Amino acid sequence: MTRAYKVDAKLCRGDGLCVAVCPKKVLEIADGKARAVERRVRHCLLCGQCMAVCIHDAIEVEGLSRADFPLLRRHTFTAEDFETFLAERRSVRTFKDQPVPRELLDRIARAASLAPMGFPPHTTSVLVLDRREDLDRLAADLRKGYGKLLEMVRNPFLRLIIRLKRGAETMHAMRTHVLRIVEEDNERFRERGEDGYLYGAPALLLFHANRWSVAYQESAMLVAAYAMLEAQALGLGTTVLSIVPPLINNMPGMREPYGLGQDDFVVVGLIVGYPQYKYHRSIERKLAAVRYLRP
Ligand SMILES: Cc1cc2nc3c(=O)[nH]c(=O)nc-3n(C[C@H](O)[C@H](O)[C@H](O)COP(=O)(O)O)c2cc1C
Repeated sequence: MTRAYKVDAKLCRGDGLCVAVCPKKVLEIADGKARAVERRVRHCLLCGQCMAVCIHDAIEVEGLSRADFPLLRRHTFTAEDFETFLAERRSVRTFKDQPVPRELLDRIARAASLAPMGFPPHTTSVLVLDRREDLDRLAADLRKGYGKLLEMVRNPFLRLIIRLKRGAETMHAMRTHVLRIVEEDNERFRERGEDGYLYGAPALLLFHANRWSVAYQESAMLVAAYAMLEAQALGLGTTVLSIVPPLINNMPGMREPYGLGQDDFVVVGLIVGYPQYKYHRSIERKLAAVRYLRP
């Protein structure tokens, strides 16, 4: 796509920072001023780094508005503070019976939008459910949908169909993990009336994206991760839910009530609420491996 770059010659000092920072080498310095390299313009990622690095506000890229480039305040916490904050995070599944104010949900969505978003056009969106009746209806649909799935996998023919339609990896995940969990969740509801899917949380964020946009799943996951950390910074607790998306995406009649188009796929859910309990200990887990290719 061709794109116009406006360089204000009065403001540009030709320091070349925009040239140096551009990941696609779209800019150059000519006669002491920045300008676009015509044949490279189509490679622009619209990342806006040229505008962010220019202290003189000399450059503007078509499709990006200067209003979307607020001046940065420098953070004041140390790496140790940040790691302490990360260590404090746990998946919260027991919540106070207290709604999450919408201004906090808005704030979470705003902070989440600071995540790296992959390649434009960005299609990651968030759908917020924060009314008890909507959350209860979804929990009931999850019980019903997964109940049906449990019945289907008992039938060898239907099991084969699922395997062919969804692939061997999905079938493996179902056999080793999902089926056991949903069986227990449905049983828990039957016996004790407890919601093992959404845990009675007062809010659920569903991160969805258009499946034709490049790396849409990775982008939506990162946005959800930022949302999770912002929620924690606001004194809220969260749990990432992968149990919700497959059902909304695949069960007939589930997508329409949520206003999802046929190419919109829910990537991940995040329940949010005020934690009932406080943890006094962290947990030290190890990645499966940390290796340097060369010692
Ligand atoms: C991709 C992903 C999907 C998850 N899906 C679920 C889920 O569907 N239900 C649930 O209760 N927890 C889910 N979790 C939360 C994990 O179970 C949780 O992170 C794990 O128990 C570790 O505990 P911690 O988050 O407290 O450190 C998910 C976590 C991740 C990263």
